[in-house]
Amino acid sequence: MIEQIQKIEEEIAAFKVNDASEVEKFRIHFLGSKGLIKGLYALLREVPNEKKKEIGQKINDLRATAETKLNSVKKSSKTNVHKKLEEDLSKPVEENSLGSHHPLSIIKREIVDIFNKIGFSISEGPEIEDDWHNFSALNFPPEHPARDMQDTFFIQKGEDEIALRTHTSSVQVRVMENNQPPIRTISPGRVYRNEAISARAHCFFHQVEGLYIDEDVSFADLKQTLLYFAKEMFGEKAEIRLRPSYFPFTEPSAEVDVSCTICNSKGCNVCKYTGWLEILGCGMVDPNVLESSNIDSKKYSGFAFGMGIERIAQLKYKVNDLRIYSENDIRFLNQFKSEL
Ligand code: PHE
Repeated sequence: MIEQIQKIEEEIAAFKVNDASEVEKFRIHFLGSKGLIKGLYALLREVPNEKKKEIGQKINDLRATAETKLNSVKKSSKTNVHKKLEEDLSKPVEENSLGSHHPLSIIKREIVDIFNKIGFSISEGPEIEDDWHNFSALNFPPEHPARDMQDTFFIQKGEDEIALRTHTSSVQVRVMENNQPPIRTISPGRVYRNEAISARAHCFFHQVEGLYIDEDVSFADLKQTLLYFAKEMFGEKAEIRLRPSYFPFTEPSAEVDVSCTICNSKGCNVCKYTGWLEILGCGMVDPNVLESSNIDSKKYSGFAFGMGIERIAQLKYKVNDLRIYSENDIRFLNQFKSEL
């Protein structure tokens, strides 16, 4: 029995504990309910009475030795855990790779900043519109063929037809309905048209439309505002030209070209060798439109313009396929990191 106790004592001393799982192994092996020391106590019953006290004492000492070692290995395995943590914490911070803004967001922000500088506020409105705000208030009479200019997504809602807005001019109707001039606002947002998707057309795109109404607003003010915009957007050398056009809500109406900054108007495949690039539509707000929103067309006049953000981004970044804007291809998006 004494020999057995000595053997266990040596075993305790030799037992190597490196981590928490070995601490538990040690406890079970020596001090567990089926462990070696419990076994010794069981054997004590068979020891002759006169020896019981001496042997019992030895087993008690052995248990104390095992417990002391258990406590000390517990502590040192905890210190190990802390050490590991400290090592992790002292590692250099892993670099987080930054995402990029979408090119359309970058261009939208640029356009908005340019007009903010000359006092235009921002207005926003719903993408699901009624006929009044998208068409009728903008001088599109019912059944007027001009409605076909904008292939509209219609949705039947009970008796009424509602539509996905085809332009953000609908937002400007809401602004005119709720405010009296002077009004100077731009409305950026997404618009929808029922077009087959190709490199040159998509069923949704983004616009920024502008509206300026006050006393004595003239066509010269419109032209000057757009020239300022073109120079801010495309550089000091940019020139513009206006070509007559037609929109139901403006009279007169024009389409605006900016001089091709890619070839300095010498002619290239982007401007199709004309030296000019079409960027927006504009005109003087039709008096009917002002009256529809209860603005006195005898007292006030105004101009409006609208441009596609995709188109401007295409010219700035030489994007030749509209579809790429909505494909979320990381190889495309990563190229805009520097523009954060
Ligand atoms: N709303 C027109 C469009 O989406 C653009 C435009 C706005 C034209 C304002 C003239 C004046 O095509």
